[in-house]
Amino acid sequence: MTNHKQQARSAIVMGATSGIGYEVAKLLAGRNWRVGVAGRRKDLLEKMVAETEGIVAYEVIDVTHAQATDGLHRLMERLGGMDLYFHSSGIGYQNTALEAEKELSTIETNCLGMARMVGEAFRYFEMHQETAAQLAVISSIARTKGLGAAPAYSASKRFTSHYLECLCQLARIKGLRHLHITDIRPGFVKTPLIEGSNFPMQLQAGQVAADIVDALEKRKAVVTINWMYRLLVFFWQLIPRYLWTRMRIS
Ligand SMILES: NC(=O)c1ccc[n+]([C@@H]2O[C@H](COP(=O)([O-])OP(=O)(O)OC[C@H]3O[C@@H](n4cnc5c(N)ncnc54)[C@H](OP(=O)(O)O)[C@@H]3O)[C@@H](O)[C@H]2O)c1
Repeated sequence: MTNHKQQARSAIVMGATSGIGYEVAKLLAGRNWRVGVAGRRKDLLEKMVAETEGIVAYEVIDVTHAQATDGLHRLMERLGGMDLYFHSSGIGYQNTALEAEKELSTIETNCLGMARMVGEAFRYFEMHQETAAQLAVISSIARTKGLGAAPAYSASKRFTSHYLECLCQLARIKGLRHLHITDIRPGFVKTPLIEGSNFPMQLQAGQVAADIVDALEKRKAVVTINWMYRLLVFFWQLIPRYLWTRMRIS
């Protein structure tokens, strides 16, 4: 057993090269976490480590690769352990043409890749029960109802959310009282993911990251960001399927 628990808490941010993950990694580093970052773009990861005090290590990881979990373990070793696993990696498309490549790559990244990495983090935390541990994943308000304009994305976010609910119960079954699991559901956020779109009510990534870190500190199980979207989701989920599938939303 390692003695890493005597050091500053360690966080790994998967999908830290841009958008929400980038902002969360910087915020955690500013709050005395030792942060390890990962994603596919090596130059951006190198830059983050060089420029941000507290971001101390990186690993190039593509979550769609079967060996991606080896990279996670290398990063954990460099940090001397892991107290928080934060999963922000994700892709998505508006895909009314239902192009197969877009649908399948979304499922590969957001479902298979997510389950691969989150599963490994869960198993790690099961093996290391000395102190509190946190596992957090960004799903989306797109999970609320099936979106005809973005089928794979919407369904992948439902999958993510449902998967986390399963892991919450599994943690109870296994008596893992030290492990806190958080499902983060943001509304539209101004990041490269939705660049060029004209979606309304776009939130700033920095503010969303601050709300996320706040939710992590409070160990919330589910958080919808922000209050406007909480209100929207409340009414949105009341729409019956019969009516929803007849609405032309794009
Ligand atoms: N923006 C929104 O409106 C919004 C709303 C709700 C939820 N979300 C969710 O928030 C998460 C972050 O998205 P974002 O808005 O911050 O978008 P973003 O700026 O495009 O960031 C996506 C991140 O995912 C990483 N990534 C993508 N594919 C990957 C792969 N195969 N392996 C490892 N990392 C991968 C990217 O890094 P590399 O390219 O370097 O690999 C990047 O760091 C996503 O799950 C997204 O679905 C976004």
